[in-house]
Amino acid sequence: MAETNEQAVARRRTFAIIAHPDAGKTTLTEKLLLFGGAIQLAGEVKAKKNRVQSRSDWMKIERERGISVVTSVMTFEYKDCVFNLLDTPGHEDFADDTYRTLSAVDSAVMVIDAAKGIEPRTLKLFEVCRLRDIPIVTFINKMDRESRDPFEILDEVEEKLALDTAPVNWPIGRSKTFCGTYELASNTVRGSDDEVARTPVNGPQADAAAGKLPENEREAFIEEVDLAREACRPFDRQAFREGHMTPVYFGSALKNFGVRDLIDALVDYGPAPRAQDADIRRVEATEDGMTAFVFKIQANMDPNHRDRIAFARVCSGTLSRGMKAKLVRTGKSITLSAPQFFFASQRQLADEARAGDVVGIPNHGTLRIGDTLTEGEDLLFHGVPNFAPEILRRVRLMDAMKGKKLTEALQQMAEEGVVQLFNPEDGSPAIIGVVGALQIDVLKERLKQEYQLPVDFEPARFSVCRWMEADKAELQRFMDAHRADIARDLDGDPVFMAQNGFSLNYEAERWKAVTFKAIKDYQ
Ligand code: G4P
Repeated sequence: MAETNEQAVARRRTFAIIAHPDAGKTTLTEKLLLFGGAIQLAGEVKAKKNRVQSRSDWMKIERERGISVVTSVMTFEYKDCVFNLLDTPGHEDFADDTYRTLSAVDSAVMVIDAAKGIEPRTLKLFEVCRLRDIPIVTFINKMDRESRDPFEILDEVEEKLALDTAPVNWPIGRSKTFCGTYELASNTVRGSDDEVARTPVNGPQADAAAGKLPENEREAFIEEVDLAREACRPFDRQAFREGHMTPVYFGSALKNFGVRDLIDALVDYGPAPRAQDADIRRVEATEDGMTAFVFKIQANMDPNHRDRIAFARVCSGTLSRGMKAKLVRTGKSITLSAPQFFFASQRQLADEARAGDVVGIPNHGTLRIGDTLTEGEDLLFHGVPNFAPEILRRVRLMDAMKGKKLTEALQQMAEEGVVQLFNPEDGSPAIIGVVGALQIDVLKERLKQEYQLPVDFEPARFSVCRWMEADKAELQRFMDAHRADIARDLDGDPVFMAQNGFSLNYEAERWKAVTFKAIKDYQ
């Protein structure tokens, strides 16, 4: 019998891992995929990453710099749950990509290096999650190495993130003696992650807990567990769901401790797909009608499929192969002839995707970031953010004859979210904007490789740009008064270009009825 919407939604878990580079995101991902049977051997994710890179020319620069530009989606099953793990680039120059991906998840796992605590990228990514009230499960990784005191780490999370913590498991031993986890509420232990079930014990002093430690560490462990029970908050599911509390798991992704605790937690209380806000109403995940939004476009993921892939999150209903969907931005109907799931092992054709799932939709430029797909209803999802670029440049073409081709190429790159494109109202050449400097390198490399367009970049007259909000007449007055400083973005929305922050503030003071916005939601 076909699965009902309620059943399908209840077993979906769509999440991302947020971490400062080197905290162990890749290692943890790999372990999760192993549990899900999506890969057979540890090391495959790293190897795959490398292989994909070496096959793709434009990613040379990524390889050279040892970072990951590719954001991918990995789907796997564990204990009757369907997990969609949305991977995010670790380098901060691709932050906007990460932020957009976070708009498509229902929860996040925050990985913290036990020796380093909260690092800058963790903090930044956490703030984005908080903006969206995304529930966060914390994994304190690398407990097999010299680490900070667990209480100190919990304090740091509480203080730096202003987030309540609830340790769910407690490390048995530290660094070399780390040998398993003790679950505080249930009095159960698990040695390595190979142990599928937890073993009940009669307290931290049990043979299977303190008994596994060298004699001189036993007393301290028993005291710690008692203290953790008395001093720390118990886990509160409601507070977690609302984003006020994070359950904390100690472990070691590399040495196989605590990861099963973590994934079991996602099964037990990880949030199922949530309702999504659209312009005219809220869409419940269990509704029948299919709705979805595009949060990412990727080109050249695989040289055998040189098309563009739009990553869409299904928000409700069933997206099935061959169905017709309305692209609300244009009002046109498109046929979803080959939606793809991204199972970790290989691309697979999916027959259907349910709320919470992410599908890849091959297209030749029809779909853009932020697009909404429905079965006919005119609604638009909000929430895929567009951040005002921090670097603005003019593109200088080496071969003046190729101006038209450049315009097309830039348009495509902008639709993919590689750069933002601004066309000045006065007809002067287009200005591109990026959040991180590395994105300029990617653009340059791709224009050369894919479009045979060698280009250079020169500083623009502007360094700041902002979207504007005001009533129509006032907006027009402002634009008339600043004709030379107005450009249009990809959607045709006007932006104000300022030479620097000072001149932006000056205008903001003079034009109180105009709001200057650093973030624009797509649509
Ligand atoms: P990232 O994706 O967050 O950047 O981190 P990644 O998983 O690549 O891990 C960064 C380094 O930390 C790797 O070592 C990895 O093996 C190590 N690591 C991850 N988890 C643990 C853990 O639980 N315990 C210990 N001791 N180490 C861990 P590397 O030497 O930089 O890379 P590799 O040569 O091992 O691949």
